Amino acid sequence: MTADHRLGFRDAEACPPTELSVEGELPEWLSGVLLRNGPGKFSAGDRTVNHWFDGFALLRRFAIRDGGVEFASRFLRSDAYERARATGDLRYAEFGTRPDDGLLGRARRLLSGELTDNASITVTHRDGEFVAVTEPPRAWAFDPGSLRTLDPRRFDDGVDATGSTAHRHYDPRRGETWGLATRQGRNSGYVLHRRADGSDRREPVAAIDVDRPAYIHSFALTDRYAVVTEPPFVTSPRRLVTADTFLDAHEWEPEQGTRFFLCDRESGEIVGPYRAEPFFVFHHANAFEDRGEGDLVVDLIAFDDAGAVTKFSIPNLRSASPDLPAGELRRYRLPVAPLEADVVPSGDATDVPSAGSATPIRATASETPVEPTPTTLHEGPMAFPTIDYAEHNGREYRYVYGAGNQRHPPEEFLNRLVKVDVETGRTRTWSEPDVHPGEPLFVPAPAERRDGEDDGVLLSVALDAAAERSALLVLDAADLSERARAPLDRPLPFGFHGQFYRDGGRPIQSMA
Ligand SMILES: [Fe+2]
Repeated sequence: MTADHRLGFRDAEACPPTELSVEGELPEWLSGVLLRNGPGKFSAGDRTVNHWFDGFALLRRFAIRDGGVEFASRFLRSDAYERARATGDLRYAEFGTRPDDGLLGRARRLLSGELTDNASITVTHRDGEFVAVTEPPRAWAFDPGSLRTLDPRRFDDGVDATGSTAHRHYDPRRGETWGLATRQGRNSGYVLHRRADGSDRREPVAAIDVDRPAYIHSFALTDRYAVVTEPPFVTSPRRLVTADTFLDAHEWEPEQGTRFFLCDRESGEIVGPYRAEPFFVFHHANAFEDRGEGDLVVDLIAFDDAGAVTKFSIPNLRSASPDLPAGELRRYRLPVAPLEADVVPSGDATDVPSAGSATPIRATASETPVEPTPTTLHEGPMAFPTIDYAEHNGREYRYVYGAGNQRHPPEEFLNRLVKVDVETGRTRTWSEPDVHPGEPLFVPAPAERRDGEDDGVLLSVALDAAAERSALLVLDAADLSERARAPLDRPLPFGFHGQFYRDGGRPIQSMA
């Protein structure tokens, strides 16, 4: 067996609750639970899934309390997982893996729209429930203590047929959650929707009609706008029927460029699109209105093309020298009309319109003549950008954290953590030989003693390939020095996203 990144793409077993040893010292104020999601099993019977996004969800939990850490993991008992376990077949339409269903099965699947419920992308908190989510509409509630799978969850509001971004924004100031649905077929395009806390319906705010919808993984939210970035990785009804997989149904059409649409959160009016040179994006770091310049600033991780998606095939990732995508942290400035009044409501969420009442405004937007030009904030390679979400999402900010690579182009899977000061361009990094860290989540120091935007810690789960085990890393977010680590007795498959929920008070998400 090779001691390298490939340990992070092997099938795992669930792990019962286990107390970990802690090296170094955890901050005494750090108390809560880190819940993470990501693929943990890549096989069904004698088949292996073809794409990283299609591995079966393994929920992971690090409970941090009184200077100690307890770890547990458990597979999400989705229908797709149970079916694969019982029959050895892959029966649901996954992202990049052809189901075992033959022609008749395919016809049935297309008619019924039966999409996977393997909710492996991230976890979210919704009105007292913890939910594992993915892009197709079916999600699963789970118990955050035992990680036991509870019941399926699906909105019955007609807003999306084929799904919404797994990355959803929560605005604590207005008490609402925003998502972006992609519609295929008739009325194809994007629908921005919002849901008021406590409501079981999502309200469509604006529809953007496009003939050939793109694969869109996330968007950005400011006080005034929802920001949709549309890379030219597009599909069509015909290709959705004829292609083997959802991924295969998409084509890179660089001549279309990458477009930005801004949706006014109050009126639903669409501004733009602004057309830039083509790039692909999974994750936005942040966006905000620069009132001094009259610009809408969008910071994101940009890739040259859709290789960012296709290179995550399992055969490539399981090779000794995988061909890996390299993203850079980039800033776009979009000129917008100045604000006439402060649109930020003060304090509570009592002014939120009741969900389900509004008719979406259909975009009649015309393209702006402005071609936004980018500024590189950090050449990277960089992935999984995070910020101090609770305080700074949608607002001016200074620091982006992420996982990245020491060399460009990458010679290994993610092998360092990076912090970028977007004002000065200065970076700090953390790395250790043979260690492959994942997404770092920022946890702020308690408000009463906090000193600055980067006063807090970063939590990252890292694979120590030489030691053949993973560990929870706790770094000081100010200088990226290591404060503590809690090693497991085993390697964990690389995960995607998660949230840290502090003990006491209302759960607040760490990222979109
Ligand atoms: Fe993501």
